[in-house]
Amino acid sequence: MMNNASAAAPQVYGSDQNLVAMVPRINIHAFCDNQQSAETMQMAAGDRRMAKAHTTIQLGGIMAAVQVYQSQATPNVLLVESHGSRDVILSELAELAQVCQPDSKVIVIGHLNDVVLYRELIRQGVSEYLVAPLHQIQIIETIAGLFQNPKAAPLGKVLAFVGAKGGVGSSTIAHNAAWLMSKRYATETVITDLDLAFGTAGLNFNQDVSNGIIDALGQPDRLDATLIERLLTKLGDKLSLLSGPGGVDREISIEAHAIETILHAMRGSVPCIVVDVPNMWAPWIKYTLMHADQVVITATPELASLRNTKNLIDMLKAARPNDPPPKLILNQVGVPKRPEIPAADFGKAVGVDVSCIIPYDAQTFGTAQSNGQMLLEVSPKSKAAEALTGFVQILAGTDKPAKKAGRMSLPLLDKLSMLRKK
Ligand SMILES: Nc1ncnc2c1ncn2[C@@H]1O[C@H](COP(=O)(O)OP(=O)(O)OP(=O)(O)O)[C@@H](O)[C@H]1O
Ligand SMILES: [Mg+2]
Repeated sequence: MMNNASAAAPQVYGSDQNLVAMVPRINIHAFCDNQQSAETMQMAAGDRRMAKAHTTIQLGGIMAAVQVYQSQATPNVLLVESHGSRDVILSELAELAQVCQPDSKVIVIGHLNDVVLYRELIRQGVSEYLVAPLHQIQIIETIAGLFQNPKAAPLGKVLAFVGAKGGVGSSTIAHNAAWLMSKRYATETVITDLDLAFGTAGLNFNQDVSNGIIDALGQPDRLDATLIERLLTKLGDKLSLLSGPGGVDREISIEAHAIETILHAMRGSVPCIVVDVPNMWAPWIKYTLMHADQVVITATPELASLRNTKNLIDMLKAARPNDPPPKLILNQVGVPKRPEIPAADFGKAVGVDVSCIIPYDAQTFGTAQSNGQMLLEVSPKSKAAEALTGFVQILAGTDKPAKKAGRMSLPLLDKLSMLRKK
């Protein structure tokens, strides 16, 4: 955690690989000792991951904090900055200790890369020592880290797939990407189909589906990893689905609060959560996109798609300044005789490079759809399958697929029984 001399490779903050958990509903007070730190702190406080926390920032460093907490209770997390030497920091903190509640967690920001100081501070009960200058994500990561149960399951990554307009192929791409994550990268993946009335996940996987998502949305306060587990439909070894039945006989209104609980419960138990977000606009849709770790927009190369993509990207970039921008897929490219906007121009107009170009291929997509199969099962050598594999490689952050379970990995007992049969 500590940003000191022993930290090896520099981390790229705000990159795709940098997953940072939500900070819980806590009070945070920061006492910075210069304007620049206060501004970074301000940016951290404005981040979506800090939305539940209540943060106040002021100048004056450790001594100002000592002053304030003579008469005030210390918050859940107290960040104090000092430009001082080792001795100065230690003596100022000794004064702070006199006024600090034992259950408050203290993070010290210093300007000295000093391991001896770090050890001494940790010995004295300081939760973390960080060396300025800091990146806002580093601050959020450190605070979130104070509240994570080390025994908790790996933190899930939410990938939200949304179409720039209806019918562009967003759901098909989301399902294929999830399937690839589970097969090629052996990552436990759940598809959450939020298109309650018209969702196609069940059809695309040739599966009868349950009412899982409706039950989940109906009792958000009871949701936890165990309940989610019961509501899932198994689609494969490492792939499951949380979806509605696909029908219009029930009207269900979705609250952003219910989405928050579902995503939170899943994040705690599944490493990859692919969310199929329907092409419509409502507070809960905005919530889902705002709180995804990665948004993937699928667009077709024409004007209406371009306008909507630009609006979505502008909104998301402004609302999530410390997150990677949405990834952009151009789908159904090369429909005969149709005038199209070239990928480079499309990317330039919307301010995000196109990550993946998928050709129009009625035969492959049509066969996949009518067989209830994935593109790679129907036509692994097709350009569409290749493009999608390349894209999922970007999402997974590696081109190294997981090891295939072959005979060598059979449990020892099975191997022995095979030998005996010979
Ligand atoms: N590159 C492609 N070439 C040919 N057909 C495609 C391609 N991509 C998607 N399709 C087909 O387009 C149709 C719509 O796809 P899909 O349902 O995935 O789109 P969507 O964006 O999720 O639509 P909706 O707005 O209804 O949710 C499907 O029949 C699918 O097979
Ligand atoms: Mg869809």
